[in-house]
Amino acid sequence: MTQFLKTTQVGIDGARTLPRRYYVAPEIFAEESDRIFTRRWLCVGREDRIAAPGDYILQQVGNESIILLRDQGGTARAYYNVCRHRGTRLCEEHTGRFSETIQCPYHAWTYALDGRLIGAPSASEIEGFSKADYPLHSVAVESWEGFLFINLAEDPEPFALAYESLIGRFERFNLPNLTVARTIEYDVKANWKLLFQNYSECYHCGPVHPPLAKLTPPTSGENDLVSGPVTGGFMVINQGHQSLTMSGRSCGVMVGDLPDEDLNRVYYYAIFPNMLLSLHPDYVMFHTLWPEAPGRTRIFCSWLFHPDTLNNPAHNPEDGIEFWDMTNRQDWHICEQSQLGVQSRAYQPGPYSKRESLSVQFDREVLKALGHGRPV
Ligand code: FES
Ligand SMILES: [Fe+2]
Repeated sequence: MTQFLKTTQVGIDGARTLPRRYYVAPEIFAEESDRIFTRRWLCVGREDRIAAPGDYILQQVGNESIILLRDQGGTARAYYNVCRHRGTRLCEEHTGRFSETIQCPYHAWTYALDGRLIGAPSASEIEGFSKADYPLHSVAVESWEGFLFINLAEDPEPFALAYESLIGRFERFNLPNLTVARTIEYDVKANWKLLFQNYSECYHCGPVHPPLAKLTPPTSGENDLVSGPVTGGFMVINQGHQSLTMSGRSCGVMVGDLPDEDLNRVYYYAIFPNMLLSLHPDYVMFHTLWPEAPGRTRIFCSWLFHPDTLNNPAHNPEDGIEFWDMTNRQDWHICEQSQLGVQSRAYQPGPYSKRESLSVQFDREVLKALGHGRPV
């Protein structure tokens, strides 16, 4: 989706795409799950998915099911969906509201929303049993600008350290106060890395996205984060157009207090390993990516607007939503074609162009996280 030409070049000469096994091998996929998706911060969407005390959602992370809930004191918490008795899944429904407790459906062990075990029928007969020894296994939760993140590591790197470059960066965009107008779920038959690589360059925009290329020249803009876990920059909206919408006109009020220079820009950031954040003058779009298999990724895309846009029928948020739903599908399709090609025995790593420097950086971030000094 995005493009960045005038990058501060970070030495990508000679860079080639990853070998086939990175897109097909179950062993690499398992390594990624172990070293990336159970160690890094993962965006699970907006705070208001669990707005009231007791509200919960289930989030699948690979083979793990995580319960994310709002406790009675208003704190967001997360737990493995695993009973401390015999391990049974506590919760089946993907979303709902707990009364004041979580009760296992098997033998009715009962937990408070802060994770404490508060009821375990007949367990007092077990020698040496103490409820205090069996709280739910917790998962770290962090909130940033209205987004919730979880981290399955036992001792996660603090969020503010892991994403230092994000902190305070988008204050002008008023992110905490924006509202989701729509979320669309996509089931894409492509490896998650192909989708990140795709987002990180606009070399493909001319051939794949003629309508997008008309609104933002594929070689416009500049990168401002060129290495590390967050990469991206901006592209310029052509004169005569105001936003990325079907009509080319704004589809709502400005999301925040934006300076003039932001009024003809779209900012794109890839946030390793599962979030893509795209900031337009009148709406913000974000994707979360959930790898399900080497060749399969579930994607959620949401569009955020200023409440004044959503409360005023004169605005038409659909104009932006439709534009990116169309563009998303173009991306998913080409990534699925790419997956089919890299699965071939004929595929060999090919040379990256200078216009794909952020895709190169992404691959490097993957290899670093896997502890592969070079592709294996
Ligand atoms: S497995 Fe949960 S109460 Fe027995
Ligand atoms: Fe694209």
